[in-house]
Amino acid sequence: MAEDFKGQPRLPNFAAPRRYDIFLKPHLTACLFSGTATITVDVLLPTQFLVLNAADLSVHTSSVSLTTSTTSSDTISPLSIELLEEDEIMVLQFGSQLPLGESLLTIEFSGTLNDQMRGFYRSKYEYKGQVQNMAVTQFESVDARRCFPCWDEPAFKAKFKITLEVPSELVALSNMPVSDEKFNGDLKIVSYDESPLMSTYLVAMVIGHLDYIQGLTTDGVQVRVYTQVGKTDQGKFALDVALKSLNLYKDYFAVPYPLPKLDMVAIPDFAAGAMENYGLVTYREVALLFDARFSSAYSKQDVAITVAHELAHQWFGNLVTMEWWTHLWLNEGFASWVSYLAVDAIFPEWNIWTQFLDETSSGMMLDALSESHPIEVEIKHANEVDAIFDSISYDKGASVIRMLHSYLGADCFQKALASYIKQYAYANAKTEDLWAVLEEESGEPVKDLMNSWTKQQGYPVISVKMNSNKLLVCQEQFLSDGSSAAGTWIVPLTLCCSSYENSKKFILTSKSDELDIDDLILNKKGKQETFWLKVNTNQTGFYRVKYDDELAAGLKYAIQADKLSLMDKIGTIDDANALCVACKGTLSSLLSLLDAYSMESDYTVLKRVISVSLKIANVVDDATPDLSDKIKLFLIKLLESPAEKLGWDVKEGESHLDTMLRAELLMALVRLGNTSTVDEGIRRFYIFFNDRNSSVLPPDIRKAAYVAVMQKCTSSDKWGYESLLKIYREAHQSEEKMRVLGSLASSPDKSIVLDALNFLLTDEVRNQDAVYGLNVSNQGRETAWEWFKENWEYISKTWVSTPLLSGFVKSIVSLFASYEKSKEIEEFFANRVKPTFERALKQSLERVNTKAHWIEGVRSDESLAEVVSHLADKA
Ligand code: BES
Ligand code: ZN
Repeated sequence: MAEDFKGQPRLPNFAAPRRYDIFLKPHLTACLFSGTATITVDVLLPTQFLVLNAADLSVHTSSVSLTTSTTSSDTISPLSIELLEEDEIMVLQFGSQLPLGESLLTIEFSGTLNDQMRGFYRSKYEYKGQVQNMAVTQFESVDARRCFPCWDEPAFKAKFKITLEVPSELVALSNMPVSDEKFNGDLKIVSYDESPLMSTYLVAMVIGHLDYIQGLTTDGVQVRVYTQVGKTDQGKFALDVALKSLNLYKDYFAVPYPLPKLDMVAIPDFAAGAMENYGLVTYREVALLFDARFSSAYSKQDVAITVAHELAHQWFGNLVTMEWWTHLWLNEGFASWVSYLAVDAIFPEWNIWTQFLDETSSGMMLDALSESHPIEVEIKHANEVDAIFDSISYDKGASVIRMLHSYLGADCFQKALASYIKQYAYANAKTEDLWAVLEEESGEPVKDLMNSWTKQQGYPVISVKMNSNKLLVCQEQFLSDGSSAAGTWIVPLTLCCSSYENSKKFILTSKSDELDIDDLILNKKGKQETFWLKVNTNQTGFYRVKYDDELAAGLKYAIQADKLSLMDKIGTIDDANALCVACKGTLSSLLSLLDAYSMESDYTVLKRVISVSLKIANVVDDATPDLSDKIKLFLIKLLESPAEKLGWDVKEGESHLDTMLRAELLMALVRLGNTSTVDEGIRRFYIFFNDRNSSVLPPDIRKAAYVAVMQKCTSSDKWGYESLLKIYREAHQSEEKMRVLGSLASSPDKSIVLDALNFLLTDEVRNQDAVYGLNVSNQGRETAWEWFKENWEYISKTWVSTPLLSGFVKSIVSLFASYEKSKEIEEFFANRVKPTFERALKQSLERVNTKAHWIEGVRSDESLAEVVSHLADKA
């Protein structure tokens, strides 16, 4: 009979949990835990079964019982208990139908504090010179079932009353404040207040030696940042961002922070970046800690974004939760979008909305693959969930929200959101529930518009051309490999003509349309030579634009004459690059367009110019070895003048963005092989290596110097490699370790690459960090592939249950750019692929094929040689 419950995507809903009383006793040295779950279960329909999730737990069968009324004489035991491993469920069959209404289900169990960074796991840290274990939970998506038996789906919200028995000297945290603490010799029993209704994936516990700093929000909510002992100073920045974000969200969502306290904890071993557990948010150290002396400006920004993101979830995700994982994007897309809103308010000088276009761009890159997926994706098995924490849910999700926000207007959007939060508080919602609220508030057909973006994969490229005073527009799905596919979107089109005042908006609903822009052109009568037209004003739309030659020339003029906004400058080069990769535009015209950015000095724009430049530099060796040096020379010239302006040394009072720009430019010049930058990086590294307090190499530019050192490092002189390892070993900051790891394999020397890769698999590198060491040089990629195959068994075993395995596959596969290699890789994986990384593998292979296709396109670009000569000479 338990058979009936096999292979089902969701638990049956004839019974639902209302309240969990969970007792857990971890044994931190033996890495074991035992526990009891007493669950108030509401039987809703006649049944003899209770079906709930459990995985990797030993359930003590004789302990399982159901008390059907308040008198314990009504306690019954199940006839059978079956644990279905594959489905991660536990089926209890009773001898007769269960009484409708509430009963108490009691289950005793035990398990292992695992090393997999999921469920209830152990993390290692040093305390008073000794290595210690910290007990930590990470339940999203489907791993609460690895800690206690439960209805482990977001829609089964219940109240949680947690009790922990732990060594008395440790700090023990959970979602709610401590209600009682009883000491008993070396141990203490800590109980916490009962939580409001919440989903299982948000339950959390952390037990270890921890120290904290704290503050209060304007509402008096206590916020703490917990770190390893001695590191609390590094939590100050995050605490400040947290307090400000909470104050802001309370107004924005028009609902107070739902819990009495918020703790944020830095965890030494952590699979993701951060996790929004209700009232107990956990972070990787690099995503929470900031120290002005050791951290870069980029990492400061990253901390702010991460904190703002996780705290947004306290409303969007925790208070109102997705009904099923299909709607994961509601959680992630929204938290991502709102985090920019908060960071923009807190740090207006960061120009963070312009930086948001990085997210849009990565969403577009992934969504241009046939192996992408719609934002709303069907989930048929728990093991499919992890794979959709990707750029589609996050970046495309956040970007289509931005598109809708700009279409409806900020006020209307906020009002609707506030009423959505109020309406679904302590409950669950689906994507269409949000659209319904927005539709009601705005009177616009939000559902139809948005369905076209969330239910269908991909996005369009809008081709535009002028025909006297009419603009012809047509849409077609954009795919990176240049192929076409059917797909029509309802596109909120915007454009402006020769000036930002001179603009128009309309909705494109069909494949093609003709627009009268007479009025726009008339406004600019007599100034034909300076005519330009930009579609997708400020890149609020999730689509690309392809201009005919005449319009493209006008845009290039607008860039040279500095007429465009930062966002439009970014969008123009980003679209041109994507079209070039898809062979819908030539490399020669992309290079000429890049040339129009030679006077640019803004971080956000140059960052995109740099990323386009590096992508070009990365394929020209394969595509056109004869021209490759000249192309790189042109790219170096393009970046050299802004780099010279900034220099290597921090200028007093310089902006946050300039500090980040210096880092980007120097790194790019090193990667492009610019001799003077590489030499200067090495010179500064010498000084720094011998005197770590020297100011010649501040954290922002350190990685550029490290990569420079590795570029010149060979197996006959391994000084650079050895020195970097020394820095790694002596570093106290996780961020510093990451900088070193990210540099080691960038050497062109194959044997050094091999050493660097082998180092990743040693005890000296935490499992959470190894993927960051896969920055392999083009010269080292074959070595990396051989290494990967040889170590596959170990790698797949070690990272199997973490999202990091996808990261390994992606990083290694994406190094290649030929059809043959993609075939070879596909064959290798034929009998090795697993659902957790299957999607990542297919996408990476498609990227390899796309690059191979691009290379063919570059080879057939007949004007390339001439254009390159011209540009390089000019430079
Ligand atoms: N809910 C996620 C954490 C998560 C990720 C759980 C993957 C399970 C699987 C969290 O809110 C999140 O999105 N974290 C991001 C950081 C954020 C700033 C985008 C992360 O971990 O990268
Ligand atoms: Zn999130």
